[in-house]
Amino acid sequence: MIAPSTFALAVLAGTASAAVAPSFTSPAPAPTSQSSFYVGAANSTITNTPNVPGAVFDRFIQIWLENTDFAQAASNPVFQSLAAEGVTLTGYYGVTHPSEPNYLAAVGGDFFGLAADTLEYIPTNMSTVVDLLDQKNISWATYQENMPTDGFEPYNFTNPDNYTYYVRKHNPLVIYESVANISTRSARIRNFNDFAVDVGNNSLSQWIFITPNLRNDAHDTSVGYAASWLTYWLLPLLNDPNFNTNKTLILLTFDENETYTIGNSVYSLLIGGVVPQAMKNTTDSTFYTHYSAISTVENNWDLGNLGRQDTNKTLANVFNLVASVTSYHNNGLTNSSALPQLNITGTIPGPLNPNYFVPYLAPNMNSTGGGSGKTFVAPNVNTSLTTANAPAPVNISASTPTKSSAAGLTSNAGSMITTIAVVAIAAMLL
Ligand SMILES: *[C@@H]1O[C@H](CO)[C@@H](O)[C@H](O)[C@H]1NC(C)=O
Ligand SMILES: *[C@@H]1O[C@H](CO)[C@@H](O)[C@H](O)[C@H]1NC(C)=O
Ligand SMILES: *[C@@H]1O[C@H](CO)[C@@H](O)[C@H](O)[C@H]1NC(C)=O
Ligand SMILES: *[C@@H]1O[C@H](CO)[C@@H](O)[C@H](O)[C@H]1NC(C)=O
Ligand SMILES: *[C@@H]1O[C@H](CO)[C@@H](O)[C@H](O)[C@H]1NC(C)=O
Ligand SMILES: *[C@@H]1O[C@H](CO)[C@@H](O)[C@H](O)[C@H]1NC(C)=O
Ligand SMILES: *[C@@H]1O[C@H](CO)[C@@H](O)[C@H](O)[C@H]1NC(C)=O
Ligand SMILES: *[C@@H]1O[C@H](CO)[C@@H](O)[C@H](O)[C@H]1NC(C)=O
Ligand SMILES: *[C@@H]1O[C@H](CO)[C@@H](O)[C@H](O)[C@H]1NC(C)=O
Ligand SMILES: *[C@@H]1O[C@H](CO)[C@@H](O)[C@H](O)[C@H]1NC(C)=O
Ligand SMILES: *[C@@H]1O[C@H](CO)[C@@H](O)[C@H](O)[C@H]1NC(C)=O
Ligand SMILES: *[C@@H]1O[C@H](CO)[C@@H](O)[C@H](O)[C@H]1NC(C)=O
Repeated sequence: MIAPSTFALAVLAGTASAAVAPSFTSPAPAPTSQSSFYVGAANSTITNTPNVPGAVFDRFIQIWLENTDFAQAASNPVFQSLAAEGVTLTGYYGVTHPSEPNYLAAVGGDFFGLAADTLEYIPTNMSTVVDLLDQKNISWATYQENMPTDGFEPYNFTNPDNYTYYVRKHNPLVIYESVANISTRSARIRNFNDFAVDVGNNSLSQWIFITPNLRNDAHDTSVGYAASWLTYWLLPLLNDPNFNTNKTLILLTFDENETYTIGNSVYSLLIGGVVPQAMKNTTDSTFYTHYSAISTVENNWDLGNLGRQDTNKTLANVFNLVASVTSYHNNGLTNSSALPQLNITGTIPGPLNPNYFVPYLAPNMNSTGGGSGKTFVAPNVNTSLTTANAPAPVNISASTPTKSSAAGLTSNAGSMITTIAVVAIAAMLL
């Protein structure tokens, strides 16, 4: 929950999207079919570099669902049948609230103090897992359901039926200008018609981030609705060798816990052809977070690191499925240990927190990540602006003009122009 005083203004928002759809309807005969519901026509097939083998997997697919109680997911028959095919991660945690900072963390290793779902543009000197993958020519893509065109920048998109299915806050790579503002990269931020074509042509990338729409990810609906979508979309793909090979690892997770006051544990599963028979229908209680999804990828392909929380040895344990093969040493924390509080929001300093503003800092170049590679430092990073000499956090929210506009949610604290921070208290779990 966001304290109403955290940001200046509150408006009622998202009322159209708050209406709960009656039940899941298949948009097409199969996930490999295109659909007018997905809006934009598919582009030509993506071009990928040759396969780069990893220690354990050659393909990593993350599928992110929304705001669901661990127990609710665990009691759903579809999740149960998926769990029987994989490893349930009982110690996996979101890193803060609300949604957007969790998504940012999963690709950039940080959420820069963000405690809202505002329109953000993270400057080009901030790197992501894409930079690490590109260094080794490992192909990557993200598929965003109901995003109309590839690399689509706006805050959301409303279908012809007047329902807003796509939101930018769940599309992490587009928020980083180091991805979105390079055309060869933004072309890899793709829609679901592209997905249908790419999987049909056996041209899926090696690192993939999937965001279902606001109904299918349970955000506007329920875990049962998301389970119906998984039955339509994921279950057949698990039997499709163009999607799931014996070197594919799939992470099915949720962005954050439903209730802010009781920790941030989220139901997460590792499935896919790479899961050994002996590990199927087992649980792993190791303490993981969204940062583990980066450190595990670093470890699997022996990449560099981002020098951010992906290198934090408390928060970024490597999935045991991989660490046990690579002999990577995790920290021993489990879901029964005393764990750091990952439900804190609003008081974490950073360039996207106008109440506790600190500039965008250089990565910690002395960090070690999941792989043996060096910390990636973009050419335009001011390497003298480090955590060691960062200025103390300042409150810039009161000193800058603030105006409200439901049509232009933006907070550009990085350039000290805070246009607004509008928090929809009516929909606290965005
Ligand atoms: C949130 O996580 C806590 C553990 O930190 C768990 O006990 C609780 O069931 C979860 N609640 C929801 C609503 O997900
Ligand atoms: C990646 O591809 C580029 C261009 O083909 C090549 O110059 C470079 O050596 C490759 N890097 C690796 C690590 O394979
Ligand atoms: C396909 O690519 C073209 C050229 O890059 C772009 O203008 C168009 O918006 C793309 N279409 C979709 C559906 O993304
Ligand atoms: C969508 O909204 C517009 C404007 O309010 C309205 O004219 C149109 O009939 C609506 N379309 C549908 C499918 O409800
Ligand atoms: C990146 O693209 C966005 C959206 O088009 C634009 O507002 C921004 O100025 C661009 N940033 C840079 C550094 O070019
Ligand atoms: C994995 O799939 C490849 C290609 O289909 C096949 O050659 C190989 O034998 C399979 N390995 C196992 C362990 O099933
Ligand atoms: C976070 O969760 C813990 C329980 O794990 C609770 O004691 C604490 O009050 C919560 N903090 C916030 C800010 O909600
Ligand atoms: C999976 O394990 C549970 C116990 O944790 C057991 O009840 C269930 O029958 C198992 N399912 C399969 C398919 O083996
Ligand atoms: C690593 O994470 C822990 C737990 O959240 C935190 O206390 C610590 O400050 C972090 N370390 C760095 C260097 O950010
Ligand atoms: C990295 O290590 C060097 C040499 O030990 C030290 O001077 C520097 O301050 C360190 N940088 C950071 C960000 O800790
Ligand atoms: C990164 O870029 C932003 C925007 O140009 C700038 O404010 C910040 O100081 C830069 N930080 C570093 C470490 O280069
Ligand atoms: C979509 O964006 C519009 C304009 O920025 C905003 O008024 C509306 O609340 C947004 N809806 C959702 C569901 O994000």
